[in-house]
Amino acid sequence: IPVDPFDLIIFGGTGDLARRKILPGLFRRFCAGQIPSETEIIGAGRSEIGQQGYREFVASAIHEFSKREECSICGLNEFLELLDYISLDAQGERGWADLAARLHPGRLRAFYFSVGPSLFGDLAERLAGGGLTDAGSRIVVEKPFGHDLESAQALNAALAARFNERQIYRIDHYLGKETVQNLMAVRFGNMLFEPLWNSQYVDHIQITVAERVGVAGRAAFYEKAGAMRDMVQNHLMQLLCLIAMEPPAKFEPDTVRDEKLKVIRALDPVEPHHIVRGQYTAAEGVASYREDVDNPRSRTESFIALKCHLSNWRWAGTPFYLRTGKRLRARDSQITVVFKDAPHSIFGPEAGRHRNELRIKLQPDEGITLKVTIKDPGPGGMRLVDVPLDMSFAEALGSDADAPDAYERLIMDVIRGNQTLFMRDDEVEAAWAWTDPVIRGWESRGDAPKPYDAYSAGPDDAAMLIRRDGREWREIGS
Ligand code: BG6
Repeated sequence: IPVDPFDLIIFGGTGDLARRKILPGLFRRFCAGQIPSETEIIGAGRSEIGQQGYREFVASAIHEFSKREECSICGLNEFLELLDYISLDAQGERGWADLAARLHPGRLRAFYFSVGPSLFGDLAERLAGGGLTDAGSRIVVEKPFGHDLESAQALNAALAARFNERQIYRIDHYLGKETVQNLMAVRFGNMLFEPLWNSQYVDHIQITVAERVGVAGRAAFYEKAGAMRDMVQNHLMQLLCLIAMEPPAKFEPDTVRDEKLKVIRALDPVEPHHIVRGQYTAAEGVASYREDVDNPRSRTESFIALKCHLSNWRWAGTPFYLRTGKRLRARDSQITVVFKDAPHSIFGPEAGRHRNELRIKLQPDEGITLKVTIKDPGPGGMRLVDVPLDMSFAEALGSDADAPDAYERLIMDVIRGNQTLFMRDDEVEAAWAWTDPVIRGWESRGDAPKPYDAYSAGPDDAAMLIRRDGREWREIGS
C-alpha cells in the first residue's frame, strides 16, 4: 500500500550506510510502488556536491547495491527526480535555512540521523529549536546507541529534550529481517510449540550469529566496540528477547516491547567464567584481527560466547548459550531449541539418547528444521535414529524477489508510524545495564581475548564453555 508523499531528510546522506542500505532500499520501495513521486528525499552532508552530484552518487550506489537490476533500468530516472541535496553543518549555521525552505508544509517529515551519536543532540536541538519539526515529525537513529549505560542515557535524554518517545525510531536492523519476525510467527502462530516452550521441556537454547567477514574497513569503530557492544548488546539481545518473551496480548508496539523489556530485566548477571572472548589470528590469505585494526596489542574481542540465565517462571533452570564472531567458518545465524530427553525410554539404554531439536535458521538460508526420532528402518530390532523435518522458506513459499529487506521494511515502518520493530528507550538502557558490568569486569581484570584461527569455530574455550555442562554447540555452517 503506498504511503502519502513525505519529506525524508538523511543526515549523513553521502555516508556508507546511506550508500549501501538506505538509498538502495528507498529505491526498491519506490519501484514497488510504495513511495509516491511527489516525495522529497534530501541528502544532507558537509560536502558541496550539489543536487546533480548527489543524484550521480545515488545512481552509482543503486547500481552497486540494489538487488534488482531490472529496476535500476526502469525506475532509476524517476527515482532520482525525488532527490535533492543540501550542504549543511550539523553544529554550525550553514545550510539550515536552506533546509527549512525546502520542506513542505503539512507533510510528514522524517529525519534520519545516519551520523555518529555525538551529533544526535546537536541535530535534535537544531531541528526542534529551528522550528523544522512539528508534533508529527519523526527521527530515526542508528546503532551504536551509546557505548555504555551512561552514554545511552545521555543520548536518550538529549533526544527526549526535544522529541517524545513516539517520535523516536531506534533501528536495530535485525528486527527488520523477515526471519527474525518469523520467530514471532512460529512461536505465536502455532499451537504446537508454545506449550513446550519452557524449562520443563527445554534443556537449553543456543543463539549463534556467525560471520565470515573480518573488521577491515571499520577498524577504528570496531576496535573501540568489540563483539559485545557491536553484536551482543543489540542484535543477540533482541533475538533472545523474541525467543524467550511471554506472548504479548497483541502485535502492537508497546505490548511487544513491554514483553521484550521483561526478558532483559529478568537476565541474571553473567558469571565471569561463563564468558569466552576471542580474537582471530591470520589464516592463508587473510590478516589477523590485530593487523586489520593495526594495533599489535589490541585486547578487543572479535568473538564472544557466553552462558546466561533468566530468572523467571518460564525459564528458571534453562541456560541460554549465545555466540557471535567475525571470521568464523561460515555466515550462519541460527537459533536452536534443544528439548529434554523423554522421561523414560521404553526401548532401553541401547536405543541411545535422542532429543528433539527445533532449529530456526535466520541466514543465509532461511528455514526451520525439527529433529525427530524415528525407527531406523530394516531388521535389527528397535534401533532409533534422528531425522530432520526440514523446511526451507524459499522452497516452501518460493523466493520473493520483491520482499523488502530489513532497512526497506524499517524505513517504511517509520513513514507509516509503526514502532513495533524499533527499540524503546528503556529497552536500550536495560540492555546496556546488563552488558556494562560484564565489560567492566574484563576491563578491570585486564583479560585478553583468546586467539582463534580465522575461519574456525572460535576459540577452544568456547567449546569447553558448553561441553562442561554436558552439551555441544551446533556445528557452524551445518
Ligand atoms: C552490524 C554490525 O550491526 O551488523 C556489524 O555492526 C555486523 O559488525 C552486522 O557485521 C551484521 O549484520 P547482518 O545483517 O549482515 O547479519
